[in-house]
Amino acid sequence: MVGRDAALRELREAWARVKRTGRPVPAVITGLPGTGKSTLAAAAAPPGAITGRARLHTSAPYDWLASAVTGHDLSGLDLPRDALRWLAQDPDMPRERYTPDALLRIAVDMVRALVDGKPRVLVVEDLHALDPASLNLIAELATADLPALLVVTSQPPDAAVSPLLTARTLARLSGAPGAVRHHLNALDTTQVHKILTHVYADSPLPSDLVDTVWRRTGGNPYRLTELIAVEGAAGPAGLAGNPSPDLTAREREVLGLLVEGMSNKQIARALGISVRTVTVHVSNVLRKTGAASRTEAALKAVRA
Ligand SMILES: Nc1ncnc2c1ncn2[C@@H]1O[C@H](COP(=O)(O)OP(=O)(O)OP(=O)(O)O)[C@@H](O)[C@H]1O
Ligand SMILES: [Mg+2]
Repeated sequence: MVGRDAALRELREAWARVKRTGRPVPAVITGLPGTGKSTLAAAAAPPGAITGRARLHTSAPYDWLASAVTGHDLSGLDLPRDALRWLAQDPDMPRERYTPDALLRIAVDMVRALVDGKPRVLVVEDLHALDPASLNLIAELATADLPALLVVTSQPPDAAVSPLLTARTLARLSGAPGAVRHHLNALDTTQVHKILTHVYADSPLPSDLVDTVWRRTGGNPYRLTELIAVEGAAGPAGLAGNPSPDLTAREREVLGLLVEGMSNKQIARALGISVRTVTVHVSNVLRKTGAASRTEAALKAVRA
């Protein structure tokens, strides 16, 4: 992971602290979409981590807990059966018979039972998308008597389902004693350069390519990854994008017809011009777009 060394180091230190003291440590990682929050959380989570996230299509109370306990055997837990089933969102769940406070206490006990006294990493993915009951539970866990590193990722509260409650929860977590707090920004040009050098180890990078790629992606790791996968699959030159802002209106028209797979003769007929003129337009399009063939010019146009 480029550019996240300090954050990762701090998370590892926090985990060591949890193991040493047996006390909970919240670690809050915020950032805009695609800045690498989940990647960082996964890198910090050792095997055996308990991870939960919102179920985006059927949001329900205690989504985080229900998703975190999926695959765990709850039958041995010494807690009220019906409340456990309700909290785990059992499809045949019994009608709720508990007050919100009682449920919250049972939910904390349920996490405590899962943790089972051994140091654990609990991962809360995308706090901003969680239901209010889950937010309350996460805030409780940050100060509960648990040997847990509570790694929480979130987009900024203004993108949240409940912005105010999300802001308050993030503040509570960040304000807990010893909390780790990181906001992931976009990568800078030096970091983008490092990634490109790593991906294209065998190809020289054109001198202005890093700036162009940074401009096209804003240094966002997700957009960078996508750009490399889609446009840079054949080599770094593809990352520069469509270098054809100076195509004339006629040349754009010809390019549009190339995309439709027309021959020069068909283009000539479509535009009411001679085949010879079409040939000139096509060679201009190839030169200006830097494409080696009409197929490549069409492909570049489609991607752009
Ligand atoms: N520091 C980094 N260096 C290189 N690639 C990265 C880095 N961080 C993230 N990526 C890549 O960027 C993509 C997006 O990362 P990730 O899913 O972790 O972002 P996110 O912040 O969790 O996004 P979202 O808000 O949508 O959940 C992934 O493909 C990941 O491999
Ligand atoms: Mg994520």
